[in-house]
Amino acid sequence: MMIDNVLTAYKKHFTGNPVIIRSPGRVNLIGEHTDYNDGYVMPAAINYFTWFAVSPADTDQVRIVAMDVDDHIEYDVNDISNLSSAWGNYIKGVTSQFIISNIKIGGFNCVFSGNIPPGAGLSSSAALTCGIAFAVNHIFETGLETWKLAKMAQTAEHRYAKVNCGIMDQFANLFSEKGRFSLLDCRSLDYKKENWQAEGLEILLIDTKIKHALASTEYNIRKQQCEMAVNFIRDVFPEVRSLRDVTLDMIGQCGQVLGETLATKATYIVEENNRVESAFDDLKNGRIAAFGEKMVESHSGLRDKYNVSCKELDFLAETVLEYEGVYGARMMGAGFGGCTLNLLEKGVSEHVIEDISDKYRNTFDAEPEFYTISLENGTCIL
Ligand code: GLA
Repeated sequence: MMIDNVLTAYKKHFTGNPVIIRSPGRVNLIGEHTDYNDGYVMPAAINYFTWFAVSPADTDQVRIVAMDVDDHIEYDVNDISNLSSAWGNYIKGVTSQFIISNIKIGGFNCVFSGNIPPGAGLSSSAALTCGIAFAVNHIFETGLETWKLAKMAQTAEHRYAKVNCGIMDQFANLFSEKGRFSLLDCRSLDYKKENWQAEGLEILLIDTKIKHALASTEYNIRKQQCEMAVNFIRDVFPEVRSLRDVTLDMIGQCGQVLGETLATKATYIVEENNRVESAFDDLKNGRIAAFGEKMVESHSGLRDKYNVSCKELDFLAETVLEYEGVYGARMMGAGFGGCTLNLLEKGVSEHVIEDISDKYRNTFDAEPEFYTISLENGTCIL
């Protein structure tokens, strides 16, 4: 068991009785790249986790052991400079947020390990940043509200990992509930949750195992392109604050100044955002076929308009629709690799997995990986 492993490792490296904290990965059912445009997303935490064994130290030293990469870091909690360790910076990025905000914390000892596949688009980085924010808040009794922790984790990604991500992953990590998915309005931060009632269905993730080095650069470029589009549109429609406020008609009217690239990217965001709210109602009311169609439309937009897919994702998302009992499929997360999200009838996945593995192998000479998921609680103490 993972918990036993982190506990045993903790006892090997440190003394004292640690608290065990479990932090999940996430899926996003629909609403991709909409979060940083003030739009809607539909995420849920899943049954892949990072486990932390943590306890406060008597000094200001932070000592962390990352079991899965057989590495460790150590730093003074008051030092907010960058580390050379990539994973370490996600952690230091979070503790630095406490220091910058003048919130009194001390050093601590921590061992962590998990089974969220890195680079698969399941937000293993948010599991790390949110897990640490939650742990620090707990062991030093800083009493911060959950949204504050989410924003600290997001800022850590911006400043220390240099990815200008939205708030979806941190929300999913910290606010999710077992058996439920959420509709989050990324402008107001209002959200509602709904039970996953589609008993006869399952969510299958298919991992391309592709990790494009360019992903974070392209992600930041997309965000900039959205901001540029807003600036042009605002010249004509001053009430517009983000692409959330834009209509297809506005894009049409501003087509000349926007140019094709910005107009196409903005069109995807407006269309995707429109899809999310109605997709939430589809799922809530059991309109599975309608939901599945929106997944397919979402993938087409991400592939053809927003240009964040890749040939492996396209192959999987398109091929899986050939099987009986598959309602919808699309790439999930930032893109350029990672997983497709597939909605299918229970019982068909065995055949799909076997057959699509063969096809993927024959086409790309590589093995995809499969994760059957359940919806789980956000970060919590065990
Ligand atoms: C990454 C980011 C999120 C979101 C998705 C795309 O997961 O961290 O904020 O933008 O990509 O929907």
